[in-house]
Amino acid sequence: MDLCIIGSGYVGLVSGACFAEVGHHVVCVDNDPRKVEMLQRGEIPIYEPGLEDIVHRNVSAKRLRFTTSTEDGVDSSQIVFIAVPTPPQPDGSVDLSFIERVAREIAGVLKPGEYRVVVDKSTVPVKTGEKVADTIKRYNKQATFDVVSNPEFLREGCAVSDLMNPDRVVIGSSSQKATDLMKQVYEPFRAPILVTDVNSAELIKHAANSFLSLKISYINAVSAICEASGADVELVADGIGTDRRIGRNFLNAGLGYGGSCFPKDVKAFIAISKQLGVPFHLLEEVEKINGQMLTRFIDKVRSKLWVLQDKKIAVWGMTFKPDTDDVRNSVAIELINRLVAEGAQVSAYDPKGAEKAVQWKLIDSAKVRIVANPLEAVQDAEALLLATEWSEFAAQDLEEVRKRMHTPLVFDGRNLFDPQMMADLGFEYHAVGRPGR
Ligand code: UGA
Repeated sequence: MDLCIIGSGYVGLVSGACFAEVGHHVVCVDNDPRKVEMLQRGEIPIYEPGLEDIVHRNVSAKRLRFTTSTEDGVDSSQIVFIAVPTPPQPDGSVDLSFIERVAREIAGVLKPGEYRVVVDKSTVPVKTGEKVADTIKRYNKQATFDVVSNPEFLREGCAVSDLMNPDRVVIGSSSQKATDLMKQVYEPFRAPILVTDVNSAELIKHAANSFLSLKISYINAVSAICEASGADVELVADGIGTDRRIGRNFLNAGLGYGGSCFPKDVKAFIAISKQLGVPFHLLEEVEKINGQMLTRFIDKVRSKLWVLQDKKIAVWGMTFKPDTDDVRNSVAIELINRLVAEGAQVSAYDPKGAEKAVQWKLIDSAKVRIVANPLEAVQDAEALLLATEWSEFAAQDLEEVRKRMHTPLVFDGRNLFDPQMMADLGFEYHAVGRPGR
């Protein structure tokens, strides 16, 4: 099929590449000429395992191309996906100005008699589809189109595999014609397809992300009870997670959730529910617990090192999760900044995220020593703080780490290491919600 994706961020670019991979012809549109030029040269603006290969392969096969022209994209496609950012506003509600602008742009280039399906893939508040349809109608009285909601559930760091093997595909549509075309798009993925009305599909995305955030905050709250009682949160998570009704996924205690989705989407769902007159107070608690995790962690470090001023502290990890270079809303970055604010001398290492952290001025490179490998970070350190569970950290020679440190004190914010093994290696080891050995 001929598809157009407007917006070449995480969702747009990975979706476009994967649609091409299964045989569709895809035009990716972005209004940033530098990004489009980069992509046309074969350079990928984000680090995402497997993405570069898929893009190169499909560009060579002439199934994938990039342009700045919405008209070109809409003209050459049966289906137009909107995948532009929906950032938060200061009050937590969603800024829909990018979506509105794209709806007007599409209206401006739709030709009479040429039917198009306009699909919203961005995460948007319930009832946005209705507004997109109204906007297109207002700016183009002759347009023949249907608006569909098709939320995306990919995770950064495993976006390609999530997209190629989805748990389910949600199609929110009120038109049989549009639904049939959408089913054809997803037929090659051989995933269960759930057809709903547009409002329900939009709500599914906010409800899913908020529920996953709730699971994380739930286990984090349990981790605090484990610390107070001497129980082990990993065993508790295994014990409850093996109940298939609960499931073990997203029950990993740690520093809490970050990134460009969960914090924003929980806030948005709180704002949406308030606007609809049915406030969702439970989610306010989810946010509160999440915010407390980093404070609890730093309190623990302080209880050992007393004053943090001038202390040499190594931090492993800057990205909000492993296997990505994304440092937006990363708890690891927040950790580094709080340590620096207390006057600590921080040496930080991340396999992929350091460049963007500095480039986007999320950390002050004059105040943080950014190093090229994990061992350099721990040299003479009085404590090692692990903030992101990269597999590279699990594979370190921990004997060597201990030898290099001034004091073998480790605070593991992601429960990456085994407490007994760390004790056997001679570390004083503090995890989240797990007793020391
Ligand atoms: C999340 C959802 O998982 C995707 O389904 C959704 O499509 C995406 O948001 C989106 O809305 O675009 P993502 O933010 O890429 O994906 O990453 P996750 O793997 O969900 O992790 C989010 C945060 O939760 C990370 O900071 C991670 O460290 C944290 N987390 C995750 C935990 O603290 N504990 C866990 O058990 C799982």
